[in-house]
Amino acid sequence: MIKKLVKNAKKIDDFLINFLNKQNNSLLVKPMKYGVISGGKKIRSTIILDAGKLYNLKEKKLLNLCAAVECIHSYSLIHDDLPCMDNDNMRRGKLSTHKKFGEASAVLAGSSLLTLAFEIISDKSYLLNSKIKSEIINVLARCSGHTGIAGGQELDLKYENKKKSLNQIINMQKKKTGKLFNFCLFSVGAVANKNQKEKKFLSEVGEEIGLLFQLADDFLDKKGSKKLIGKPTKKDSKKGKSTLLSLMGEKKAYLFAKNLKKKILLKLKKHGKNGLDLTNTIEFILERKF
Ligand code: IPE
Ligand code: IPE
Ligand code: MG
Ligand code: MG
Ligand code: MG
Repeated sequence: MIKKLVKNAKKIDDFLINFLNKQNNSLLVKPMKYGVISGGKKIRSTIILDAGKLYNLKEKKLLNLCAAVECIHSYSLIHDDLPCMDNDNMRRGKLSTHKKFGEASAVLAGSSLLTLAFEIISDKSYLLNSKIKSEIINVLARCSGHTGIAGGQELDLKYENKKKSLNQIINMQKKKTGKLFNFCLFSVGAVANKNQKEKKFLSEVGEEIGLLFQLADDFLDKKGSKKLIGKPTKKDSKKGKSTLLSLMGEKKAYLFAKNLKKKILLKLKKHGKNGLDLTNTIEFILERKF
């Protein structure tokens, strides 16, 4: 599993370096590269490549999706670490982008990664049917903005030190983290030219995988090793974050996560052997140490 992650991460890093090298240089390229390249598991890319196997898609058709998703993910982390949000000084085993380059450059590099994602998908050299391409762009925008990551991040911050219900927390986590995973699976279905029903199925499964991923991230904050995960630990409770862990305690939250994982794997059964890689990645998501 780790080998697969490293191999995929390298592919996407190379893609991004190549894409940026073709553009005019700017002062922001350095903090952008610092935030998105060589660091991070790039698990969302692995999910996209695994999902491609459900429909026997060629990898070449998926690399732009992977690179775009990693740009949006890294943008969200750069902003998430800012003093006005989670105020964290470490990310991926090194200084957070604002600690290294200053807050203004971090905000601007983050915003530029968000727009770079759309440049990467709309790029002429990414050969896709134009109707499919514009649907993908539309869904990516919706998964990133106020109905997705940004909206979820706003709720995450507003919910600090508040008593929130199970449904409120799940809804917040599905937005801040689930929506981008939703896009990962949806976009593969779109490239494979699947019907609306299958694309809806993929979106829902993707969002649940994202929720599972966030639950595991919350466990790691409490129990993980700072060295392995490369970011500060034990901060969620200090900040009064509303999580399933804070709501129901460790045991119940872990049980909830295990049931969620089971539910997801059951849904993927219909894809048989083609779903094996995705299944392995989902197993990894809950048990991971980083
Ligand atoms: C961390 O994401 C933030 C969450 C959405 C939980 P990752 O754990 O994917 O971060 P990197 O990219 O591997 O550093
Ligand atoms: C971040 O959640 C989710 C995002 C969309 C950025 P966290 O705030 O828990 O992520 P970490 O723990 O800082 O990586
Ligand atoms: Mg946060
Ligand atoms: Mg954070
Ligand atoms: Mg966290």
